[in-house]
Amino acid sequence: MTSQARYALAKPDPQVLVIFGASGDLTTRKLLPALASLAARDALPEHFSVVGVALSELDDNGFRDLGRAAVPDAPPSWATLTDSFRYICGHYEDATTFATLKKVLEDIDRTCSTQGNRLYYLATIPSLFPILTQALKQAGLSNPPGSGPFTRIVVEKPFGSDLDSAIDLNVMLHECFDEHQIFRIDHYLGKETVQNLLALRFANAIFEPIWNRRYISNAQITVAEQLGVEHRGAYYDKAGAVRDMVQNHLAQVVALTLMEPPAAIDPLGVRDEKVKLLRAVELGPPHELSQRTVRAQYDAGVIGTAAVPGYLEEEGIAPASETETFAAAQLHVDNWRWAGVPVYIRTGKRLAQTVTEVVLEFREVPHMAFKAHQARRLEPNHLVMRIQPHEGINLAFGAKEPGESFNLRSVDMHFSYADTFGVAPADAYERLIHDALLGDHMLFLRADEAEQAWRIIDPYLDAFAQGDPPLSTYPAGSWGPHEADILLARNGHEWHNPAP
Ligand SMILES: NC(=O)c1ccc[n+]([C@@H]2O[C@H](COP(=O)([O-])OP(=O)(O)OC[C@H]3O[C@@H](n4cnc5c(N)ncnc54)[C@H](OP(=O)(O)O)[C@@H]3O)[C@@H](O)[C@H]2O)c1
Repeated sequence: MTSQARYALAKPDPQVLVIFGASGDLTTRKLLPALASLAARDALPEHFSVVGVALSELDDNGFRDLGRAAVPDAPPSWATLTDSFRYICGHYEDATTFATLKKVLEDIDRTCSTQGNRLYYLATIPSLFPILTQALKQAGLSNPPGSGPFTRIVVEKPFGSDLDSAIDLNVMLHECFDEHQIFRIDHYLGKETVQNLLALRFANAIFEPIWNRRYISNAQITVAEQLGVEHRGAYYDKAGAVRDMVQNHLAQVVALTLMEPPAAIDPLGVRDEKVKLLRAVELGPPHELSQRTVRAQYDAGVIGTAAVPGYLEEEGIAPASETETFAAAQLHVDNWRWAGVPVYIRTGKRLAQTVTEVVLEFREVPHMAFKAHQARRLEPNHLVMRIQPHEGINLAFGAKEPGESFNLRSVDMHFSYADTFGVAPADAYERLIHDALLGDHMLFLRADEAEQAWRIIDPYLDAFAQGDPPLSTYPAGSWGPHEADILLARNGHEWHNPAP
């Protein structure tokens, strides 16, 4: 199943893509393969070139080689495109880097007919984002939008490290670029099945009427990873699970699952509704926050059949680190639709499976006509939206078991993306880069959206810094600490752990 087998994509206007961080991990592992796939689908602009800017001492040919090595099995269209790659070796703190960039861009406009249109991609260390945007402005490379050539900028995650820094970053970006020029990336939004939440909810008459507090008893959103911190120990130990996963990916999935129907599936409609939902997330008084939160760190354990070390034994981790590798919380959405419905979220590393799933659990029937012993194997009805892997949707409901006795059991009605459509979902970066080339904002975060997500997260980070709630532990390969089960059990609920 290759992406080439999929439908035709629109062709963006002529432009130059400038990648800051051209020699980095994100560029080689994600951005260049995504561009190669778009080239194979004939979905790049007719007149197009890529300029890489980084510290490594490469020249144009060195960057072309890097491009080919990053996508070894690419079709000939990729080799042709890489032939036009240009590279600038320079510090982002140095004005001459941008003077050179300006000349190279003008040269490409002349030779490749790229018409002065630019897409800058900040695929570098986040502390350099402010320096880079200011430098682009000072070099006259951040044209305001208007009738002339367009200039757009993609900003990688993380977008700040707390609410204040996110506000500062927005202020600084807006000094150099108009909001319409800015594309804040969260690659979760590029996943087909995240977008399918919109299709499921707003293209079907059967779901929306029951998508509310009258029918749903609780929502559960899990973003679980089997991986540990790998080579990112030093970064992760500063960030932790809440900054790494909750502020961005989990907040986005919560918003898309619970938001109101938009008037149109377009950038304004969808992003307005997501912001409204995030604004309605109520944390309650600070002293209750820690009762509704769990934070934990993994101990040594077993993943599959492999023994793995505990977090504190991993490379790059401070010996007495208190950084959480697991977080769970009970949120409340204070609006007409969701008042009183607990929304449970959890994320963690070294958990039993790598899986992202949304579960909506339905209320019980108003009167149970069956006897208790007949319903022993009956779980509450629930709808599972599997975002990755094995993307699909599952509806669990009760059925009569075969036989003369009237015993009930939960059974599954299943839809699988791969089985139905016969194609693998496109890589998220491929979709998002194509949208940025087209100038389509729908799957990118707006300034207020990034800030609202931090508004929710900040109080947790403050409490964690005070050691509240106390850090617990869980064995690698489990579904997290016992405290996470207690969080739900207090309300009579249980996690729906994904089937292995
Ligand atoms: N890696 C991932 O899987 C991943 C996933 C999601 C998001 N992201 C985000 O993507 C961004 C980049 O991450 P990464 O993992 O690719 O980082 P990385 O591997 O450390 O790459 C950083 C890049 O920036 C360049 N650079 C650093 N300081 C510079 C300076 N002062 N002047 C000029 N160039 C400089 C480096 O050049 P040299 O190497 O040539 O020195 C390198 O090309 C981050 O915001 C990260 O959070 C990464």
